[in-house]
Amino acid sequence: MTEHHSNPYLPELATVTRVIEETPNIKSFQVVLNDPAKMKKFFFEPGQVGQVSVFGVGESTFVINSPPTRMDFLQFSVMKAGEVTAALHELAEGEQIGVRAPLGNWFPYKSMKGKNILFVGGGIGLAPLRTLILFMLDNRSDYADITILYGARTSLDLCYKQDLKEWAARSDVKLIQTIDAEYPGWTGKIGMVPNVLKEIAPSAENAVAVTCGPPIMIKFTLQALSQLKFTDDQILTTLEKRMKCGIGICGRCNIGDKYVCKDGPVFSLAQLKDIPSEL
Ligand SMILES: Cc1cc2nc3c(=O)[nH]c(=O)nc-3n(C[C@H](O)[C@H](O)[C@H](O)COP(=O)(O)OP(=O)(O)OC[C@H]3O[C@@H](n4cnc5c(N)ncnc54)[C@H](O)[C@@H]3O)c2cc1C
Ligand code: FES
Repeated sequence: MTEHHSNPYLPELATVTRVIEETPNIKSFQVVLNDPAKMKKFFFEPGQVGQVSVFGVGESTFVINSPPTRMDFLQFSVMKAGEVTAALHELAEGEQIGVRAPLGNWFPYKSMKGKNILFVGGGIGLAPLRTLILFMLDNRSDYADITILYGARTSLDLCYKQDLKEWAARSDVKLIQTIDAEYPGWTGKIGMVPNVLKEIAPSAENAVAVTCGPPIMIKFTLQALSQLKFTDDQILTTLEKRMKCGIGICGRCNIGDKYVCKDGPVFSLAQLKDIPSEL
């Protein structure tokens, strides 16, 4: 937050203003800080995360997946995974939550200017990419080609269907959608994301690839990118590690000598190769 509390663990009170059912187990929450002055001054960079709390239950980490160029609300998308996420899924519009944000680093969007940008996302992994995609679309002339490859198990598991429709309709975005197996009415590709990536074979020249998704998808996506001659410096990803303090104090999220909450969650593949256990 631009103005920090003296107690960094104290969340800001916020109101859920809209709940969107994305898939059978993912909901997006649009939230507004209760203090209008703090909401007005709130600033974050694309890729930063927040600790969202349900009172009496606990806190969990989610990327702020709305872009800083659209500050009417902050959006978090939550996949039902355990206690906090299940409690979040029970919330209705108008209810109160706690937010500690922004935390962590962000995508190096300034050094990406003028480049061809390739997004490769799977499932809820489109969430961190969404903030950067929307940010870049709001600053479209700063970037060259924008290609988005997005996949999910079935068409029902695709998040952000409204965004997908809008991106598909744009002439300055190339969107490729894929699902794992045939589904009635599906007109996109069929096949796993890394295989479709090899098939569409984007050029690595003057390009940066940003990928996020389940670990198995990331693993094969990195291999595919390497075959396509993307170097480790041209590949960015975000890491998930169980967090507690979110501010580099508790030591819960360390990998090697780095803390995901402070040094991440955004890392280049070159940085990750120094901490091989994470690959
Ligand atoms: C940087 C970052 C960004 C993230 N962004 C998002 C996002 O945008 N959207 C999103 O949905 N998620 C995101 N996550 C993941 C999200 O934070 C976790 O899924 C969430 O914390 C789970 O919270 P929970 O309390 O509901 O789950 P928990 O109750 O903690 O359970 C989660 C899962 O872990 C299992 N589990 C719990 N405790 C243990 C244990 N001791 N041993 C073994 N298994 C256990 C549970 O059975 C369950 O399957 C992000 C994480 C990070 C670090
Ligand atoms: S969550 Fe405490 S050090 Fe990262």
